[in-house]
Amino acid sequence: MATIRLGDKAPDFTADSSMGTINLYDYLGDSWGILFSHPADFTPVCTTELGTAANFKPEFDKRNVKMLALSVDGAASHNEWIKDINEVQKTTVNFPIIADEDKKVSTLYDMIHPKADSNLTVRSVFIIAPDKSVKLILTYPASTGRNFYELLRVIDSLQLTAYHKVATPANWEHGNDVVVSPAISTDEAKEMFTKGVEEIKPYLRMTPDPTA
Ligand code: BEZ
Repeated sequence: MATIRLGDKAPDFTADSSMGTINLYDYLGDSWGILFSHPADFTPVCTTELGTAANFKPEFDKRNVKMLALSVDGAASHNEWIKDINEVQKTTVNFPIIADEDKKVSTLYDMIHPKADSNLTVRSVFIIAPDKSVKLILTYPASTGRNFYELLRVIDSLQLTAYHKVATPANWEHGNDVVVSPAISTDEAKEMFTKGVEEIKPYLRMTPDPTA
């Protein structure tokens, strides 16, 4: 297992899932992807997370992001658990959950942190761009459920900064002003960003969100 770092190609794999056999690259196609692990089926925090993820799927779809969950339980277990998630979270889990009983994928992606738990995956998140490069890595412990608003927020930032010469400041949300990339001069920025550029410091230039 090699460490996966930002910019690396997401390792491809073929695995069983709640929706049958899945190949990561075929599944993603030309879309963005979010691959996220959870510790185990039939556990409380995971139930809230997977239900929330399912309820947020239209927002991921809007951003052209395919969702893929994973735990080291089998496909039959995932499908039994999905019935509970659908019932208690009033949703329909409509994305695959990888069945990683042999820990092949969780090992490939370093999702088992032995000092946290030697058998179960932690709450890892990998956001993968259409060119299959890894754009974001997050790791949460089993005891802390993820904030899916934050995942959407960070996808908005990743997608904006992939296509425009900007960066997003602290607590940024879609529509807020953005930072002009330090790589371009203020004069260049004034030509590029027709909505205006404010130079607060020579290294801190703000411009309205070009996509808002
Ligand atoms: C949970 O999802 O609630 C959970 C799973 C494993 C350890 C602790 C909490």
